[in-house]
Amino acid sequence: MSQLRIRGGSRLQGEADIQGAKNSILPILAATLLTADQVELRGCPRLRDVDASIHILRDLGCRARWEGENTLLVDTRALDGCAVSERLMREMRSSAIFLGAILARCGQAELSYPGGCELGPRPIDLHLSGLRDLGAEIDDAGGVLHCKAPRLKGREIVLSLPSVGATENLMLAACGASGVTTITGAAQEPEIVDLQNFLSACGARVSGAGSSTVSVEGGRPLHGCTYTVMPDRIAAATYLCAAASAGGEIFLRGAREEHLSTVTAVLREAGCSILSDAAGIACASRDRLSAVRPVRTAPYPGFPTDAQAILMAALLKSRGATVFEENMFSSRYRHVDELSRMGADIRVSGRAAVVTGTERLHGAPVRCTDLRGGAALCVAALAAEGETTVREIGHIDRGYEDIARDLRRLGADIVRL
Ligand code: EPZ
Repeated sequence: MSQLRIRGGSRLQGEADIQGAKNSILPILAATLLTADQVELRGCPRLRDVDASIHILRDLGCRARWEGENTLLVDTRALDGCAVSERLMREMRSSAIFLGAILARCGQAELSYPGGCELGPRPIDLHLSGLRDLGAEIDDAGGVLHCKAPRLKGREIVLSLPSVGATENLMLAACGASGVTTITGAAQEPEIVDLQNFLSACGARVSGAGSSTVSVEGGRPLHGCTYTVMPDRIAAATYLCAAASAGGEIFLRGAREEHLSTVTAVLREAGCSILSDAAGIACASRDRLSAVRPVRTAPYPGFPTDAQAILMAALLKSRGATVFEENMFSSRYRHVDELSRMGADIRVSGRAAVVTGTERLHGAPVRCTDLRGGAALCVAALAAEGETTVREIGHIDRGYEDIARDLRRLGADIVRL
């Protein structure tokens, strides 16, 4: 199992390009099932989760192939199945996102329950109740979902909490439903706007993404398109926190501050100077960071749960103490024990974690517990004296195309062993 070796203590300096967004390309890959024409996806990041999605598409009889570094051609014309094997469902937890698109295309679907993951249980009850609202019959006996939807019919669906995956799944199913579907209480993440833009490029009538009410006028035949995926705001947040943590001056080409303004606001409060324009985001961090007001994770436009571990890592040597409150997942502090091995002072109690800044951190052998927790270890290691080895980096490869390449471009002493 490969690992990363990081020698901390040096300031960052440099420019890096921001990869396409993992949490946008995954629902878009499911959405390609809604048209039998070829789709060309540009800016597609090379991630393990993208590979898993390609495996699912191929398993369904579709063709998907890379053209150049980051362009993916998908052709679902030859689709000949509607079942996703348990092995593939386990490969990627968010594969539940395929359910709505398969139902819209095939009128039936069979998927096993997606496994839980490192963040705690990942229920899909909102996905299933919404699909039932549209007329799907879903029998979830024995861990396998047998779904029949000979005729999906649009109507109003109310989400009791703004689930990103449920919003996306229902948008895709609604494209295959007759009439208008309105999703009230929808998630408002930028990735949902990206999905709407992709669907519109295929000829769908979708509106309201980015607000709490999304409308879809279904039953329209969709055509192929060429689409460029939005930049990954959490990858951008990761590298901003790396510069904040280690000190230095970096530029992230392609990053869009309007997608991560809660993160840049906290970094400015901590003492970073951040400037952004259409080309990207510049971040400079010269002095020791200050602790910040409590950080509470919330659905967009609140502070993103995916940036919680990463920001925590950036504040480990700050002056003062910062309170974190993780409200989205029940088990998203698993990186804390690993950060403590580097000398961090973090106290966890239920949903709260208090980070008290220390003067120094020291390198240590650490282990990734999950995707963003693993990225947080890299951010902390850049500010630690000495050498850190990060093991089980397969977690990181799920969401970062090449974190070592990007951090090296920003001046970090990091190699993949
Ligand atoms: C998406 O997961 C992201 N994944 C996650 O990013 C992100 O952390 C999360 O949204 C929140 O922003 C992708 O987009 C592929 P949710 P998702 O449904 O859709 C509960 C990363 O690091 N819930 O908004 O699964 C759920 O348990 C990953 O890139 C239900 O109760 O998140 C959670 O507590 C990690 N019932 C909360 O809602 C449901 O039917 C938010 O989940 C669905 C969700």
